[in-house]
Amino acid sequence: MRILLTGGTGYIGSHTAIALIEAGHQVTLLDNFSNSKPAVLDRLREITGVTMDFFEADVTDEDALDAVMADRSIDAVIHFAAPKAVGESIARPLHYFENGVGGTVKLLRAMDRHAVRNVVYSSSATVYGLSEDLPLTEDAPTSVINPYGRTKLMCEQILGDLFASDSSWNAIALRYFNPVGAHPSGLIGEDPQGVPANLVPFIAQVAVGRRPALTIFGDDYPTPDGTGVRDYIHVLDLAEGHVAAVEHLANKPGYDTINLGTGQGVSVREMVEAFERASGVAIPIEVAPRRPGDGPASWADATKAARVLGWTATRTLDQMTADVWRWQSHNPNGYD
Ligand code: NAD
Ligand code: UD1
Repeated sequence: MRILLTGGTGYIGSHTAIALIEAGHQVTLLDNFSNSKPAVLDRLREITGVTMDFFEADVTDEDALDAVMADRSIDAVIHFAAPKAVGESIARPLHYFENGVGGTVKLLRAMDRHAVRNVVYSSSATVYGLSEDLPLTEDAPTSVINPYGRTKLMCEQILGDLFASDSSWNAIALRYFNPVGAHPSGLIGEDPQGVPANLVPFIAQVAVGRRPALTIFGDDYPTPDGTGVRDYIHVLDLAEGHVAAVEHLANKPGYDTINLGTGQGVSVREMVEAFERASGVAIPIEVAPRRPGDGPASWADATKAARVLGWTATRTLDQMTADVWRWQSHNPNGYD
């Protein structure tokens, strides 16, 4: 298949491009570099030996989308492109609705014009809100706790409505839990701009000396060690989940939602210990109050992905932290 990856030079898109090429597919990447760097394309060539078919464009630009699809025979689209920071979404909701929701509608319209009706959508476990009924199954109630989460839930609903209107569409919304890790080459990885909002990139920057200490947001949760528990998944497992999902579109599944997680919870303290094992560096910590909007624990019921897609995460916590450390220590300032 030839697969178009919007947001293809981003963290998850770049790892998915590798997994798709390894599975024998051809990829076209589209990105506006709002949260990624052109250097990713050189690194992808180094890893795969393939020069990427790349299009610098904004996903809200219908003419650009038409140009990409008119020139190539696209079989399916994986739609990663969207801004993704919770705090920024509260400060700039219209930016999130314009790009996250508006960009998705423009993309789906362009796909329809070119009769490309197979799409995998990047959703998030954030659509479960603060549900404490664990593990989270796909039929758990959804709820929205910030504008970013609303964009994800709205796009899922748009895909469901689209399939209801025209059964020639096939759409799978993948609900990612907490993606971490990097390609084992150390050539590509997560490169957040500014202060990392997420745990693992923050720990990695402490370990490499860019930040003095990790602040643990709350150690009084009702969890075994008092710190927050999440379902961290290696980005290459996640990437392989996309390969399985895009190949499953050929079975004409209609519209479906599927969790991508490991089914295992890991606490903040356990993550710090795993990172110390991987790096050999002691991570200084400070404990602060809980971060507003955080829940105590979240992990997936990952059985639907195994049943429907034949996919299960296989990489361990120690592989996740070893791969993050290799990426961060070889690239202390990310792609810069
Ligand atoms: P990322 O920011 O690394 O990648 C997104 C890419 O999309 C970036 O390269 C960015 O430049 C590009 N982009 C953003 N807006 C665009 C636009 N309007 N036009 C063209 N390109 C645009 O993020 P990621 O972690 O790879 O996430 C990919 C997707 O997965 C996002 O939709 C995100 O919401 C979703 N997701 C991510 C996580 C996570 O923790 N990383 C969790 C759940 C869901
Ligand atoms: C965050 C997003 C969520 C998104 C998810 C995907 C927020 C509020 N939520 O959730 O919408 O779907 O990423 O990956 O940003 N922690 C610390 N210190 C830190 C950073 C985090 O103690 O400096 C703790 C958090 O309190 C939490 C755990 O580490 O218990 C994981 O945090 P994070 O990586 O931000 O992920 P989520 O909270 O799951």
